Amino acid sequence: MYETQEPQDGHGKIPKGWLLFFFGGIIFLIGYIASYTPAISGWSFYKEYDKEMAAAAKTEKPVVMKEYSDDKEAIHEGKEIFANTCAPCHNADATGGIGPNLTAPKLKYGSNQHDLYETVTKGRPNGMPSFLPQIGAEKVSKVVAFLETLRKK
Ligand code: HEC
Repeated sequence: MYETQEPQDGHGKIPKGWLLFFFGGIIFLIGYIASYTPAISGWSFYKEYDKEMAAAAKTEKPVVMKEYSDDKEAIHEGKEIFANTCAPCHNADATGGIGPNLTAPKLKYGSNQHDLYETVTKGRPNGMPSFLPQIGAEKVSKVVAFLETLRKK
C-alpha cells in the first residue's frame, strides 16, 4: 500500500450511483418477471390472445342478413339465384329432389327468416352445403326473401 498525504476520499468504496443502478436493476427484474408470471399477476398469453381476437372480430365486417322481405326486386333476384344455385338439388319450383321440398308447410330446420338464413349460410348436416363462402350474405338474404314467398302464398 502507498502512503500519501492526500486524503483518499471514498477509496475502495463502490460509488453510490452504481449501487443504485445495481439494486434498481434487480428490483426491476423481479417486478418484470412477476408481472409476466401467470401465478403471480394473472398475466396469460391466452388472455392476450383472446383480447386481440376480440379486437380483430370488431373490425371485421359483420355478416348479417339483410331485410328483403318486401323488396320485389330483391325477391326476383333471389328467384334467379335459386334457379342457378339451388334448383339442381331442390328442383326449379323448390318442391324437392336431392334436397327436401322447400314449399312444405313445415321445414325441419325452421322456416322463419332467421332459420332459413342459418340453413343457407352454414349448411345442414345431411347434404345441404354452406353457401356463405360461395355467394355471400347479400345473395343469401335475397334467396331467403324468395323462399319466404313460397310459404306466404
Ligand atoms: C348439393 C345439393 C344442394 C344444393 C345445391 C342446395 N341444397 Fe338445400 N339442402 C340439400 C339437402 C340434402 C338438404 C337436407 C339437409 C338436412 O336434412 O340436414 C337441404 C336442406 C335445405 C333447407 C332446409 C330444409 C328443412 O327442411 O329445414 C333449406 C332451407 C335449403 N336447403 C335451401 C337451399 C338454398 C336456398 C339453396 C341455394 C342457395 C340450396 N338449399 C342449395 C341439398 C342442397
